[in-house]
Amino acid sequence: MNIFALESSCDETSASIVLNGTNIKSIIISSQIKIHSKFFGVVPELASRSHIENINHVIYKALKEARIGFNDFAKKIDAIAFTVGPGLAGSLIVGSIAAKSIASVYKKPLIPVNHLEGHLYSFIIENKDIKPPFLSVIISGGHTELVIVKDFGRYRILGGTRDDAAGEAFDKVAKMLGLSYPGGPIIDERAEKGNPQAVLFTRPYMKGSWDFSFSGIKTAFLNYLKANHINNENQLNDLCSSFRQAIAETIVFKAFEAVRKFNLKQIALGGGVSANSLIRRMFKENGKKNKIKIFIPSPIYCTDNAAMIGCAAYLKQKKCGLDYSTEQLKSNPSLTLSNW
Ligand SMILES: Nc1ncnc2c1ncn2[C@@H]1O[C@H](COP(=O)(O)OP(=O)(O)OP(=O)(O)O)[C@@H](O)[C@H]1O
Ligand SMILES: [Mg+2]
Repeated sequence: MNIFALESSCDETSASIVLNGTNIKSIIISSQIKIHSKFFGVVPELASRSHIENINHVIYKALKEARIGFNDFAKKIDAIAFTVGPGLAGSLIVGSIAAKSIASVYKKPLIPVNHLEGHLYSFIIENKDIKPPFLSVIISGGHTELVIVKDFGRYRILGGTRDDAAGEAFDKVAKMLGLSYPGGPIIDERAEKGNPQAVLFTRPYMKGSWDFSFSGIKTAFLNYLKANHINNENQLNDLCSSFRQAIAETIVFKAFEAVRKFNLKQIALGGGVSANSLIRRMFKENGKKNKIKIFIPSPIYCTDNAAMIGCAAYLKQKKCGLDYSTEQLKSNPSLTLSNW
């Protein structure tokens, strides 16, 4: 099945053509980082306007890369998938209207995809033979979730963030340091050159709960900055390294506690923060030590992209078919993860 997929939940406009869930015929991602970086965060109105400006170009490019023209679109594409939520209301609507217009013109079925399921299944693009159960660790700009995937579309949500998501914490700390937006990549780069033991930030393990809370580390970081002058590059790198270490250790510790407790043998990461080099290393090392299989998407599939939406859509239609109600196709900014 050839799926034409669109993603526009936040600040990336993306289109992809995905054959049978894992064969990526094309993937185009247009990022709005330049627009939002001067505000140190995504400005919803600017994001939706930019999606409107970009979406047609992104669609044309994705079709061109897959060598599909308007004349053979109907013959070559079987269904249109799009991100239905969660995300920014104005951003979601742009992708949804584009998908619905194309579906209506070419008389194709629509598959609504939960953005979190896009991140959750993104690793399958490069691991098509994986079988549940597995623990999914979704670490992104808006989420930090531990989810047991019992089967495709059957979830047990163990916990999520009670305040800041992991990516949000990286972004806010980078802002405190006067670094660029988004903060994750720049902190990661500096952290590689610093000493992770330089400053000891408390690890918020939240024992007795599978939830996360990163706002405490953020406050501790701010207090440290108020009490100490950062005079040189080495100190800055040490601080980035110490912060990254605290976040990574917390996530890795809780994930491995969860696989132990629930007797799982596989962990899959997803979301922008899974591009973090320390988090990737720690999961791989701990996986080896504990005989747990670790799946981490390539960086292009970590951050928002339409290929993961096409992949999730393929899995979903295999179980749920291609007939979705108007209600199911309606954009929902606060959509949560639920069983199919
Ligand atoms: N190398 C990295 N280390 C840490 N964080 C990173 C890295 N690369 C990207 N990030 C973070 O990933 C986040 C973006 O990820 P993503 O695009 O998945 O989030 P989102 O789509 O905004 O949120 P959500 O998926 O929860 O709706 C940003 O907060 C960014 O700082
Ligand atoms: Mg995302």
